[in-house]
Amino acid sequence: MALIAQEHLPKGAQKRVAVRAMFDRIAPRYDALNRLFTGGLDQHWRRLTLDLVGVGAEDRVLDLACGTGDLLEMAGRRGASAIGVDLAMGMLRAGRSRLPRHAFVQGDAAALPLRDGSFSVVACGFAFRNFVSVPGVLAEFARVLAPAGRLAVIDVDRPGNGVVRAAHSAYFDRLVPWMGGLLSDRDAYRYLPSSTEYLPDAAVLHGWFEAAGFEAVARRSRLLGTAQIWTAVRS
Ligand SMILES: C[S@@+](CC[C@H](N)C(=O)[O-])C[C@H]1O[C@@H](n2cnc3c(N)ncnc32)[C@H](O)[C@@H]1O
Repeated sequence: MALIAQEHLPKGAQKRVAVRAMFDRIAPRYDALNRLFTGGLDQHWRRLTLDLVGVGAEDRVLDLACGTGDLLEMAGRRGASAIGVDLAMGMLRAGRSRLPRHAFVQGDAAALPLRDGSFSVVACGFAFRNFVSVPGVLAEFARVLAPAGRLAVIDVDRPGNGVVRAAHSAYFDRLVPWMGGLLSDRDAYRYLPSSTEYLPDAAVLHGWFEAAGFEAVARRSRLLGTAQIWTAVRS
């Protein structure tokens, strides 16, 4: 199954509509397929993401683009007060039925329905590729974080080493879309690997964090370059 060519990936307002509809469709099986495709590593990476910014009981955490609330649940287990915001009602519904005591709010990362400086941590899991404008979303993160608030972002990545990159591509670009098509939604699981095209080089992304008002920007690569975790502090 071929990837979607870069020029055919949705952009602007069309991307927002397509992304929202896609996550509404795949919500019922989203968690199960994540665990299946990563062998449970996705949860390990989410825990690590919260560890890296030291999420604890004193924190007020925003899980942005929360999906069904995995990061929200983990932050809550640490005693933090946390809310999740997501664009797709299907994902929010799945999250609310799984975690009825947690707060899920519908909203767009580009214009959050939240007050300035109201969080000590913003965590964002596997969603960067889906935003229409990452610089615009980073500015919203900075706005809702209190001064010295911490930001933690995890997303997929492409390995730099040629051999590893080829092996990863066989799995991520071929097997995952095929299995996703059998078990859930063919177009969505074709979009998933194709959407890595939206992510700029690390140096560009680093500049976007700083331009949005973050300092101590750091990037960590996981599992041979298949995932990346960014942390930063609001200046
Ligand atoms: C791959 S899922 C990740 C969900 C969850 N964070 C996780 O770790 O599993 C991407 C999520 O981003 C959400 N999303 C995409 N664009 C968004 C936007 N502009 N504002 C808020 N959420 C958005 C989607 O609805 C979807 O739930």
